[in-house]
Amino acid sequence: MSAERAFRAPGRVNLIGDHTDYNGGFVLPLAIDLECVVRGRPAERVSVRSLQLEGEVDLPADGSVDPADVAGWGRYVAGVVRALAERGRPSAGIDAVISSTVPVGSGLSSSAALEVSLALALCDAAGFALGGVELALACQRAEQVATGVPSGIMDQLASISGRCGQALLIDCRSLAIEPVALPEALAVIVVDSGRARELEQTAYADRQAACKAAAARLGLRSLRDATLEQVVDDPRARHVVSENERVLAAAAALTAGDTASLGPLLAASHASLRDDYEVSTPELDVAVAALEAEGALGARLTGAGFGGCVVALAPRADAGRIAAEGAARYRAETGLDPAVHLVRAAAGAGAA
Ligand code: GLA
Repeated sequence: MSAERAFRAPGRVNLIGDHTDYNGGFVLPLAIDLECVVRGRPAERVSVRSLQLEGEVDLPADGSVDPADVAGWGRYVAGVVRALAERGRPSAGIDAVISSTVPVGSGLSSSAALEVSLALALCDAAGFALGGVELALACQRAEQVATGVPSGIMDQLASISGRCGQALLIDCRSLAIEPVALPEALAVIVVDSGRARELEQTAYADRQAACKAAAARLGLRSLRDATLEQVVDDPRARHVVSENERVLAAAAALTAGDTASLGPLLAASHASLRDDYEVSTPELDVAVAALEAEGALGARLTGAGFGGCVVALAPRADAGRIAAEGAARYRAETGLDPAVHLVRAAAGAGAA
């Protein structure tokens, strides 16, 4: 009987740089210490159960099932099986159980963690290997075929490439990654607004189309190549161009130990996402203001927006209090009960 094997993949939180990845721009995420684990043994088909979610998935291992024909979270499983088959993975199944500590649907990339951990298990079962970037591209494709949303590469690449104690400066055009150490004196707080993301699917695709159109009008390959002067009258494009500059400035500030510059950069990022890109919600704005009022260096919505989480940086010594009192303030103002996480930058996906 073949031995059981387990693979893990973390969720991620993005420190700064949202809606830049699909514009060939820069992002600064970290893989976090919340993760999905896939534990299984070789089998003929792909059969998966979840310890947290209802339902079971049972599919042929050759990618012949269209993810759109599969219900619920099984779509992600079918997406991974198909994306790997497209890249030449031989048909080999697993009988597996998945267990995840990444909260589902809150913007911490629970789906990327599932895709990446499952992809590693499936590659292992088939004696097939992909490099990190190829694996991320396959999992991005899985996400796209499962959801119909043209999402970028950040989540899957961050889950695969995470480093303990470090954020990742990713150039989403070249896919080059530069680790950036996070000072031990700074804590990363995540507050879930407690409102599931809404409108995200259509609005995300609309924003992406607006960016493509703006780049085409300027005769550019992508907004990565635009200057601020070129986009000064176009709020959507202005967000992308200014956000890229803020990502590079934040990475430089972290490298230089200049933590005082980080707060204003996070605040400017949130304002740009709220006013120029229009992907915030009243709840996300309240959460950002609550954390700042309690003493966070800075806070911003993180991920796609339209609900989900905010991220804040705070002095580690005060982070527990800032998170708890920020959450209490949020609860008092919105009547919603937010989940709070003090996260650490964790290692990328691998054998568990
Ligand atoms: C989602 C997508 C990412 C990225 C963010 C916004 O998380 O999956 O690719 O576009 O939104 O920065």
